[in-house]
Amino acid sequence: MSDPSETPRERTVPASPPSRGLIRDLLLAAAGGLAVLILGLLAVSLGWIDGRRERTSPSADAARPVAYFQPPPPSAIPDGPDGDAIRRGEALFMNTPANAAAFTGNSLSCVNCHLDGGRRANASPMWSAWGLYPMFRAKNGRINTMEDRIMGCFTFSMNAQASSSGGPPPAGHDVYRDLQAYMHFLATAAPSGVEMPGGGYPKVAQPAQGFDPVRGARVFAANCALCHGEDGQGRVNANGQPVFPPLWGPQSYNWGAGMARINTAAAFIKTNMPLGQTGRLSDQEAWDVAAFINSHERPKDPRQTGSVEDNARRNHTGGKTYYGQVVNGRLLGGGVR
Ligand code: HEC
Ligand code: HEC
Repeated sequence: MSDPSETPRERTVPASPPSRGLIRDLLLAAAGGLAVLILGLLAVSLGWIDGRRERTSPSADAARPVAYFQPPPPSAIPDGPDGDAIRRGEALFMNTPANAAAFTGNSLSCVNCHLDGGRRANASPMWSAWGLYPMFRAKNGRINTMEDRIMGCFTFSMNAQASSSGGPPPAGHDVYRDLQAYMHFLATAAPSGVEMPGGGYPKVAQPAQGFDPVRGARVFAANCALCHGEDGQGRVNANGQPVFPPLWGPQSYNWGAGMARINTAAAFIKTNMPLGQTGRLSDQEAWDVAAFINSHERPKDPRQTGSVEDNARRNHTGGKTYYGQVVNGRLLGGGVR
């Protein structure tokens, strides 16, 4: 698919610490019984154990530290109706299935891909997104307001077709008001109409060896399975709340999502995974593991009305997705529920 708006933007690659919310979840999960495993992961995440290797990427080596925009702390949320909306928006962002239950068809939350509550640079932060809309998107061929953009996230990343309402929040719904109030708050005093350093996911050029899900399976086993599970289905805590989100299958993002594209997933993964060990993977490993993840079946692309082949021709050209491709003798894209 030749969709420039889905191509992650070029950025430099710094390391950032794990979120406090994550550490809390890890501790909760530890209390739930996975103690040894989880404490080990926590140690790695916090840098108690240095899991890093030499970086091999010349682009990463050339990266200079950038002074990123600092969104205001939660303590700056005002009292009154504005503050109430910001808090509701934050709750929607952090735990979407619980707070937008009627419109969420999987177990993901916005924060799973926009880390630290949409605050973290190079994890497509909301403070950089806010000032870029309205913006033309090739994905739907029109000017998108921020509401349209969020509707897209519900449609694809949150797989709204499998929700109880059968789709994303309708236009004008309070879910959009509250999420936008939160984003607007995060972007307090940020410039408007310019791409900010740390916005989007830093693009990773396709390496010389291309991408290969067989190599990616080895990267996954060594670097990802501990948290996301051997079967990629993630892990829940003692209360059944997701601690590590699923990477494929019925509870993950659908075939139409940006993350289902190998280049976009490679960009996210290279800078942000394994969580707490930014820079551990080479560009090649990031592309290979992205290919591995995205060569598994996931919920159907909601734009598919006819056959997979037909939708592949309309919406999945460009060779950076396995949608409509045959892998291990199986045509991918049919969907799982
Ligand atoms: C499965 C991962 C995933 C989830 C979950 C997800 N997103 Fe996204 N989101 C993406 C990707 C990938 C992009 C494209 C990033 C880019 O442009 O580099 C994106 C882009 C965006 C953008 C535009 C960013 C920009 O700079 O233009 C906004 C706004 C956004 N998401 C909001 C949300 C909200 C709100 C939710 C929850 C309702 C959500 N996302 C859930 C992966 C996700
Ligand atoms: C230390 C545990 C840990 C490890 C190891 C780890 N992840 Fe993650 N991953 C997470 C957590 C936690 C999130 C959600 C982040 C949040 O909500 O703050 C996440 C989110 C993701 C997401 C976006 C959400 C989704 O479910 O699609 C992808 C994709 C992903 N990880 C891929 C990987 C890959 C590939 C590897 C191995 C290279 C990896 N992760 C290693 C903990 C981990």
